[in-house]
Amino acid sequence: MLKLATQSLFVLSLCHFAGIAMADTSPREAVATGRIEKIGAGIVAFLPQGMKAYPASLTLVKAPVLQGQPPSGWAIKPQFVRSGAGSRVIVQIPAGADLYGTGEVTGPLRRNGSTITLWNTDNFEYARESGHQLYQSHPWVLGVRKDGSAFGVLFDSTWRAELDTGQRIVFASSGPPMPVIVIDRASPQAVLQGLAELTGKMPLPPRWALGYQQSRWSYTPDTHVLEIADEFRRRKIPVDVIWMDIDYMDGFRVFTFSAKDFPDPKRLNNALHERGFHSVWMIDPGVKFDPGYKVYDSGTAHDVWVKDAQGGEYHGEVWPGEVAYPDFTMPATRSWWSALYKGFMAQGVDGVWNDMNEPSVFKVPSMTMPDDNWHRGGGELSPGSHLQYHNVYGMLMAQATRDGIQAALPDRRPFVLTRANFLGGQRYAATWTGDNTSTWEHLKMSIPMSINLGLSGQPFSGPDIGGFSGEATADLWANWIAVGAFYPFSRGHTIKAAQQKEPWAFGPAVENTARIAIERRYRLLPYLYTLFHDASVNGMPVMQPVFFADPRDLSLRSEAQAFLLGRDLLVVPAWARQPALPKGIWRKVSLIEGEVADPHQAALKLRGGAILPLGRVVQNTHEESLDPLTLLVCLDADGEAQGSLYEDAGEGYGYRRGDYRLTRYRAQRQGDTVHVSIAGSDGKRRASSRDIVVQVVTDDGVFTGKGPDGQVVVPLRSPH
Ligand code: GLC
Repeated sequence: MLKLATQSLFVLSLCHFAGIAMADTSPREAVATGRIEKIGAGIVAFLPQGMKAYPASLTLVKAPVLQGQPPSGWAIKPQFVRSGAGSRVIVQIPAGADLYGTGEVTGPLRRNGSTITLWNTDNFEYARESGHQLYQSHPWVLGVRKDGSAFGVLFDSTWRAELDTGQRIVFASSGPPMPVIVIDRASPQAVLQGLAELTGKMPLPPRWALGYQQSRWSYTPDTHVLEIADEFRRRKIPVDVIWMDIDYMDGFRVFTFSAKDFPDPKRLNNALHERGFHSVWMIDPGVKFDPGYKVYDSGTAHDVWVKDAQGGEYHGEVWPGEVAYPDFTMPATRSWWSALYKGFMAQGVDGVWNDMNEPSVFKVPSMTMPDDNWHRGGGELSPGSHLQYHNVYGMLMAQATRDGIQAALPDRRPFVLTRANFLGGQRYAATWTGDNTSTWEHLKMSIPMSINLGLSGQPFSGPDIGGFSGEATADLWANWIAVGAFYPFSRGHTIKAAQQKEPWAFGPAVENTARIAIERRYRLLPYLYTLFHDASVNGMPVMQPVFFADPRDLSLRSEAQAFLLGRDLLVVPAWARQPALPKGIWRKVSLIEGEVADPHQAALKLRGGAILPLGRVVQNTHEESLDPLTLLVCLDADGEAQGSLYEDAGEGYGYRRGDYRLTRYRAQRQGDTVHVSIAGSDGKRRASSRDIVVQVVTDDGVFTGKGPDGQVVVPLRSPH
């Protein structure tokens, strides 16, 4: 028994364990901090007393190396408190600091004064628990001080918890005391790099996953899937991916295909590939309890199922009826699950959509398994209750899925979309924000949601464009696609009962808006791909809050209508009211003819000092060609600008062996000309001999020049 109390606290607070609000009157005992060790540059780990070494962690990419004393004057020191059966950590908030992150959350961008429950929940329409408990859990808070310096606090625990960001940061866990990691660096960007050093980065996705994607629950039968694909091509609306929701299966049995509606998935996938499409197919975790069904039988033979508290096979109900759930904490289960993808991917499937993996269970008030269900663990993971492992169920599933796809198609980059996930889960899958509604409220909220996911380590996210549940008005859908074209993950989707929500479903005017918005995305692909590459290298979010442009400008700290794509491009939705925008030079740019006349399109503004690489409009990423490559230049006050362009094969792993090219461009004003040259490049990929088009955006208009890459001189005469 550890006798650690220095002080006894008795605090009244509200807690929501088991989803029920109750007064938590259990005595609180301060627990001394055991080890305080530097584990990286500006990164310190705090271990509660009694914890000798850093325990196995599902969040961290590797075990931290304890490197001795923290830097002197280290300011942020979490305090450990024992509390009834659980444990808490309290962190004082520096005066005036603004808080962000905390994962997938509803509500404002700035998180001061909110309370959320970290307990992955199938939250249809975000209606349960007032939306304070969603599909993913990120025990992580980012803080930005008044002077623009920043800190981050990572609570390394998977147990159910409440995260309160009111007067103090309070992490109230239902589990034992956990290690806490604090990052303290000069800027929020530097803190996010620290988070990526700890929890890993999103692997570079295949380029097709950056295109526009179309989904519906469900396009069925297979002939209808092709009709939708053909309609996009006929109407010349760019798109890369079409999604297959649950109805392709035989009675919702995972890894099967309906003999009636999808008799030959390989032929369908081939036909989609011929049309320049990729396909993503859904796989849920619940396996139909159906002796004789080969996946159920093989899971039983491999002894993979989650157990109930009595040691029996736990069954819940989901789409197929009664199901058993793989216990993904067991390495043997993950290998078994991975192996199922061999035959599945052989059907020509390109990507996998993992849904319902909170895990969701129908017809029970908790919407999930009992807390005392049992996971057997293995490897570094000890056996434990569902209360301990619930929050990582989806992440472990996504990991096994990714591994399975990688093993089946070793030369391809896996693409997995998951609904449930956990801090660090960007290593395995992209995400969407679940079952939102076709309302203005959820359109507006989608922006801070995706930004805060990015500020929690997940750069690849977006909501269902147009809203999942309910009917969208033409005006709402038009406004949604106009900003939706700029989410990192850009996919339209809808619930079964709702109207058609394809870009043409709302009449010619909305179709035109959608075409322009999506064409803008396709012109931006070289820039977007460069940003995704950055994210895969240093963890920088693709979609960023406006305050990233100037973390010292306090007026930007709550801006949640406008957002940045990377450092250089500001996106201001047409509906934004008095957005707080960064000072300095930001010039409006136009990418597609007709966009200026369309009242739904977002304003795009380029940072002074930036060079933006653009492609031409193509119908899918396969057609993408940087011939011509356009460089859009916005000079800073000194008449200079810089930008970079990352290029590779768009698929596979050649880039890891040097088959890529990162070109750094530089523009300089000399008298009344602007010279655009190559300041340097990395990678072994051959420099192309293409000509490029340079457009210099100024107060007096846009000036254009053409010439061989790296040697373009633009006269600042006669703008057009
Ligand atoms: C869940 C998903 C939704 C999907 C539906 C049917 O509600 O969140 O995207 O369409 O299940 O599979």
